[in-house]
Amino acid sequence: MGDPDRFAHFASPNMAGLLDEIEPVKVAALAQFAAASDLAGLEQARAAFLGSHGRFTALMKQLSALPKEEKPAAGKAMNEAKTELENAWASRRSELELRAALPSQLADFSLPGRRRVLGKLHPLTQVTEDIVRSFRKIGFVVADGPEIEDEYHCFDALNTPADHPARDTQDTFYVSAGEAGGQSSNLLRTHTSSVQIRVMESQSPPVRIIVPGRVYRRDNADATHNPTFHQVEGLYVDRNVTVGDLKGTVEFVFKELMGPETRIRFRPHYFSYTEPSFEIDFSSALTRKMGKEWLEIAGCGMVHPQVFENVGYVPEVWTGWAFGFGIERIAMIRYGINDIRLFYENDLRFLRQF
Ligand code: DAH
Repeated sequence: MGDPDRFAHFASPNMAGLLDEIEPVKVAALAQFAAASDLAGLEQARAAFLGSHGRFTALMKQLSALPKEEKPAAGKAMNEAKTELENAWASRRSELELRAALPSQLADFSLPGRRRVLGKLHPLTQVTEDIVRSFRKIGFVVADGPEIEDEYHCFDALNTPADHPARDTQDTFYVSAGEAGGQSSNLLRTHTSSVQIRVMESQSPPVRIIVPGRVYRRDNADATHNPTFHQVEGLYVDRNVTVGDLKGTVEFVFKELMGPETRIRFRPHYFSYTEPSFEIDFSSALTRKMGKEWLEIAGCGMVHPQVFENVGYVPEVWTGWAFGFGIERIAMIRYGINDIRLFYENDLRFLRQF
């Protein structure tokens, strides 16, 4: 029969030869795992060594052909190498997965964030809110009325009948013509004074209101005029109200608005709904910057007894004062703006400055 090991030698490698082969295959596998630059490359390398047709798997397959007594030692060496390869593969895979999850461009987390640009209140809104805040401090509340008004509330009730010359200076846009029978026309209100009437018609005295709002005139637009602009109206009705109350109130509010060294003065004037009537001038560092000591800023006066009659207040009992001024004019002086049209153009280069 001859040497019984004859076939064994033929069929199986000897252990020494197999062990010698493990190291170079392992080194080659480790090198390829390390060299893989992405997950797909790593998978290829894994298949080339540990896949069913891989080089390392081929060595493992030879184990079974070893003589029984050599198997444990060879198997141990083989398993150690396999564990080493699997660990190397797994850790390279984690590295590459992490790399794949990272943004391709590195972020600099110390850079300031990109913020959403916040809008701002329009300068006219800011001034209006400041005015309202000052009046609230001394007990006034905000009242409101329609911009499309009727002639009665805009003129007649304010003691300005149809043939009164004061109507010419406030010519406006008529929305509908009144009927010959006497119903009054609708128009865009020329001043916020109409709200004085509406408030007094709807409540009994005392009254302490301010009315910020939009008004309309048939003016051509230029640096100081615009067909729409804004006013603030004030009305105070109680017993024993005097011009002193009016002056003190106006002075308080203008000092708040334009700075503590602001001075005001009253000049006699005429309005059909007040008697006596005044124009208010004020003087401050701002007016001097505009080259003037005094600037006219508002109209005012003591509520005319006829106006009280028209709303059903007894003129012998109730007294009051009223004023009205333009918000644009205040804003222009405050911010040094020389063209009223800038307020309405919605040019962000202008608006962002406030
Ligand atoms: N309504 C006037 C105007 O538009 C301003 C005004 C003057 C309002 C005197 C008043 C006032 O309440 O008493 O020019």
